[in-house]
Amino acid sequence: MPRPTLRLAAVGVAFLISAGALSACGANDAQSGGDSAGGNDNPTIALLLPESKTTRYEAFDRPLFEKKVAELCADCNVVYYTADQDEAKQSQQVDTAISEGANVLVLDPVNGAGAGGMVQSAHDADAKVIAYDRLIKEADYYMSFDNETVGKMQAEALVEAMGDKGNILMLNGAPSDPNAAQFKAGAHSVLDKSNVKILEEYDNPDWSPENAQTFVTDMLSKYDADQINGVYAANDGQAGGVVAALTGGGVAADALPPITGQDAEVAAIQRILAGEQSMTIYKPIPIEADTAAEVAVALAKGDDVPTKSATGIEQSDYEDVTSYIFTPIVVTKDNVKDTVIADGFYTAADICTGEYAKACQAAGIS
Ligand code: GAL
Repeated sequence: MPRPTLRLAAVGVAFLISAGALSACGANDAQSGGDSAGGNDNPTIALLLPESKTTRYEAFDRPLFEKKVAELCADCNVVYYTADQDEAKQSQQVDTAISEGANVLVLDPVNGAGAGGMVQSAHDADAKVIAYDRLIKEADYYMSFDNETVGKMQAEALVEAMGDKGNILMLNGAPSDPNAAQFKAGAHSVLDKSNVKILEEYDNPDWSPENAQTFVTDMLSKYDADQINGVYAANDGQAGGVVAALTGGGVAADALPPITGQDAEVAAIQRILAGEQSMTIYKPIPIEADTAAEVAVALAKGDDVPTKSATGIEQSDYEDVTSYIFTPIVVTKDNVKDTVIADGFYTAADICTGEYAKACQAAGIS
């Protein structure tokens, strides 16, 4: 079920909205009157995210996007939906958003290749579509981190941590997620040239930690734990499942092999500091959410879309879609402080809870 509509202009801040801001919106509306995607007095922007098991969506993408839209357009409404990894549900949510009057859809598809029909429905209703984080070839705009580089960075870190020898298990993301294929291709481009051997490879149908745990538990009945010298996990959620399976299978927490991840989830940063995960990929989500909000508001108001975003990213072409591509960052124990903490993505208090206080201290985080 869709969550209730959040009327941003009414979040108790009416008195803060300056006359200037109001007249700016009014002027834009007037200029764009009759424009297909704009010219609306109260533009509605739909944010449609794929799932909520990965913490980034509810903890970062959604609140950051809503905040930025509110900042840029006091009269804009944001309607939010999560698809819970269900493609049919997402398709219904798109229809609902359109019927609620959304003239811009910021769509992070469960299935990128299958989302063309949703874009068509939006276009039929004169609404624009921004493919958010995952490519939809039919979309009007696309924005994401450089996903192939993400896969390369993960694999390079893993090969290095393993001294370029030994065996790994490889856990990829959901085949329906176009990013998963890009992470996988990037990782293979490094692994296939290395001396590391892939024992078994698994495409996790929904990215879930539970499936990752089950897969590795099954592998432990096929291989001895000491034959598994490293694990490529495409994201932190799966890395968590891998750690649970290995420790559940008798591997001591301080004897875990190098394990990769992605998303810089709090639990992953804690594992990295505790020596239970070797790295993660930090995607500074504010840059992505803010750019999406900026483009969405411009489209909703019928304004020109910036060729260079306020976040400093130049438009480029990715598979013939006008795109904004951001740079991912590797995080290991050595740079937690200089990355996620320095950026204010997390405070020390978020990370240094209970049993992790000591590891934080050792890493100079307080
Ligand atoms: C990808 C996304 C990643 C991550 C993954 C699931 O599409 O780019 O950041 O959320 O899904 O962890």
